[in-house]
Amino acid sequence: MAAARSHRWLRWPENTAGRGSGRKLAYGADYNPEQWPREVWDEDVRLMREAGVNIVSLGVFSWARIQPGPDEWDFAWLDEVMDLLHANGIAVDLATATASPPPWLTTLHPEILPVTAAGETVWPGARQHWRPTSPVFRTHALRLAETVARRYADHPALTAWHISNELGCHNVYDYSGDAAAAFRIWLRERYGTVERLNTAWGTAFWSQHYTGFDQVLPPRLAASHPNPTQQLDFKRFSSDALKEYLRAERAVLESATPDVPITTNFMVMGETRGMNYADWAAEVDFVSNDHYVRPGAQALDELSFSANLTGNIAGGRPWFLMEHSTSAVNWQPVNRAKAPGELARDSLLHVAHGADAVCFFQWRQSAAGAEKYHSAMVPHAGPESAVFRAVADLGRRLEELAPLAGSHRKPAPVAILFDWESWWASEQDSHPSSLLRYRQEALDWYSAMLARGVRADVVPLGTPLEHYRMVVAPILHMVGEDRAKELVRYTESGGHLVATYFSAVVDENDHAWLGGYPGPLRDLLGLRIEEFVPLLPDEEVRLDDGSAGTLWSDDITVTDPQVEVLASYADGPRAGQAAITRRSAGAGSAAYVSTRLGAQGLTGVAARLLAKAGVAGELPPRLRGSVELAVRADAASEYWFVVNRTAEPVDLADLGGEPIDPADAPEGGAGVLPPRGAAVLRRPTA
Ligand code: GLA
Ligand code: GLA
Repeated sequence: MAAARSHRWLRWPENTAGRGSGRKLAYGADYNPEQWPREVWDEDVRLMREAGVNIVSLGVFSWARIQPGPDEWDFAWLDEVMDLLHANGIAVDLATATASPPPWLTTLHPEILPVTAAGETVWPGARQHWRPTSPVFRTHALRLAETVARRYADHPALTAWHISNELGCHNVYDYSGDAAAAFRIWLRERYGTVERLNTAWGTAFWSQHYTGFDQVLPPRLAASHPNPTQQLDFKRFSSDALKEYLRAERAVLESATPDVPITTNFMVMGETRGMNYADWAAEVDFVSNDHYVRPGAQALDELSFSANLTGNIAGGRPWFLMEHSTSAVNWQPVNRAKAPGELARDSLLHVAHGADAVCFFQWRQSAAGAEKYHSAMVPHAGPESAVFRAVADLGRRLEELAPLAGSHRKPAPVAILFDWESWWASEQDSHPSSLLRYRQEALDWYSAMLARGVRADVVPLGTPLEHYRMVVAPILHMVGEDRAKELVRYTESGGHLVATYFSAVVDENDHAWLGGYPGPLRDLLGLRIEEFVPLLPDEEVRLDDGSAGTLWSDDITVTDPQVEVLASYADGPRAGQAAITRRSAGAGSAAYVSTRLGAQGLTGVAARLLAKAGVAGELPPRLRGSVELAVRADAASEYWFVVNRTAEPVDLADLGGEPIDPADAPEGGAGVLPPRGAAVLRRPTA
C-alpha cells in the first residue's frame, strides 16, 4: 500500500466566490459546456454566481472534443471556458477527460474494449468501454492526461485534478486476454509459486491443480461454480488493477503539477462493491464521493451510512461530495423527484458527516442523451423553478456554514465494522444461502443505532478500535488469526463486541475454519455452531423475546456456563436453543446474534446491548429516532447537525447550542426544524 499522502485540500484561487482565502465550503457541479452553444455559457456563469457556486468539475466527458483525432487537439473552447469561469470567481476541479474513449480510438484499437465473463465484447456506444489493464488504452489515456495537465498547469482557475470518473462504474470486471495476463502477474506477486496458489485455492478439489501460472484464467463462464478463491482473488485483483490505473494517471499529473492536489470520485453507495475504497483512500490527496438516494424505508439511513463510511475512509478529515442529485435520477426503475426540503437536507447530511464540498451531477440538465431526464442545478424548466430556487438557497446556507469548514468528524461511541473482503466473500455462490446481503445487515445495525439516538461510526476494518465502547461486526465473514486476536484484545481491554451470523467462518483464503464455527471466535463468544440453518425466502423464526428472525439461524451449543442467553428460538427445528448470546470477557463482553432481525428487531437488541455496555444516547429521549445527530468539531467548537428524519416539524427547544445560520432560528435558541429540515448548532467543545 502506498504511504498515506499529504492530505492536501483544494488550492483555492484568490478570487474565488465565497470570499477570501479563509474557510469556506465548496459548492458546485459537473459542468459540461460542450453540450451547449456558446451563448449559454454566459448565462451559466451568471446563474452560478447567483447560486453561490464557487467550483465546477470540468471536462469529465470531453475526450472526443479535446482530441478529435489521434494527432488533433482542440483546446480553444476549453481555454475560453477556463478563463470565463476564472473571471467569475469559479474554481475548476479539472478532469483528465479519460473516462469515455472517443469513437476514433475504439475504431483504431478495438482491443481496448472490455470482455464479459461469457466472452462477449462490451461495445462502444455508452461510456467507460475500456479495459483497466489495456496497455494500448493506457498509452492513449495518459497522453491525454499529460497534454491537459501541461496546458492548464499554470491556469489560475485550476484548484484540483479529477482523475477519470467513477473508476470501475461500468468496467470493474473485465475477462479479456489483457486481464488474464495482468491477473497472472498479480497472482505471481501474491503467491510466488504456483504450488502456493494451489494451496490457497484448494485446487485438490475438482481436479483443478495447476502446474504453471500460464494455465490460470480469470473466472470466465464455466460449467459450474468457479473456484471460490479464484473468484475472490479476481475481485481483489480487479480492484487493484483500477487502483494501479489511478496511480498511473496520478504519476503523470504529479510530474506536470506537483502542487495541485488530486482526487477521483468514489462510489460509496448502495450495492456498488467492486472497488475496495478503504484500500484506495491513501492514493488521493482528499477523498471524494458520489451518492444517489434510492427510495425506500431506509433511503435516508443509507445516505447517512454512506456519508459516514466515506468520512471514516477519509480518516475523519473533510472530504468532497463530488456528485449527488438535486432531484430525480434517470437510472432507477422509477425515478422520483425529491420532496420539498430534501435537496438541502440531503446535502447537509453529507456535510454533517464531514463533507466540505457539496456538488451535484450536473450544472445544467442535458437536452439530449441518456441523462436528459436526470435532474440538475438548472433544470429543463430553467432558473424560474423550485429546483433552482432551492439550489440558490442552499448556496446561501453553505456560505453561512463556512465557519465549520475544516472541522473533523467527532468520533462516536459505537463502531460498525465494514470490510470489502467479507462483503465479497460472504455473497459468493455455492453458499448456505444466496439471500444473504452483507451491506444490508450493516445498514440495519446503523438504522437501529439511529433509532436509539446513538451515534455510530461505520469504519473500515483496520481502524483502531480501542476508543469505541461497542464494536458491531455484521457478517464479518473472513477472519484470519490476526484479526481474531485483535478482536479478543479489544474485549479484554474493556470493549463490547457484537458479532452476527456467518462471521469468522473462513480465513483469508476462503477456507472454512474447522472444529465448529465461528472458528477463531468460538472461545471468545463461548459457543459452538455445528450447522447453519438458513431460512427459506418466506420463512420466519420466532424468538422468545417477541422478535422474529428471517434469512438465517444457527444450530448453537453454548459451551461456556458464563454465557447469558439473551433470547432463544421459540419455534422451528432449533426451538429452545440459544439465538442471541452475550459472554463477559475480561473487562468487556462478546455478544452473538444468529439471525436476521432487520432494522426494527435490532432496535430492541441494540437497546439491551447498549445499556449493558454503558452507552447512552446523546439526544434527549424525545428526539431519538425522529432526529439524526452528527457532530463535527474543531479546537473551539462542536457543530451539532440535527436532521429531521420525519415529515413533521420538530421542536429542538431543549437541545442547547446556537444555530450558525440565523435563518434556522429567527427567534434565537435552537429553534424548530421544519419537515425534512436540517440545522447546525454551535456549542463549545466538550
Ligand atoms: C454518475 C456519473 C455521472 C452521471 C451520474 C448520474 O455518478 O459519474 O456522470 O452519470 O452518475 O446519476
Ligand atoms: C453431484 C456430483 C457431486 C457433487 C454433488 C453435490 O451429485 O456428482 O460431485 O457435486 O452433485 O450435490
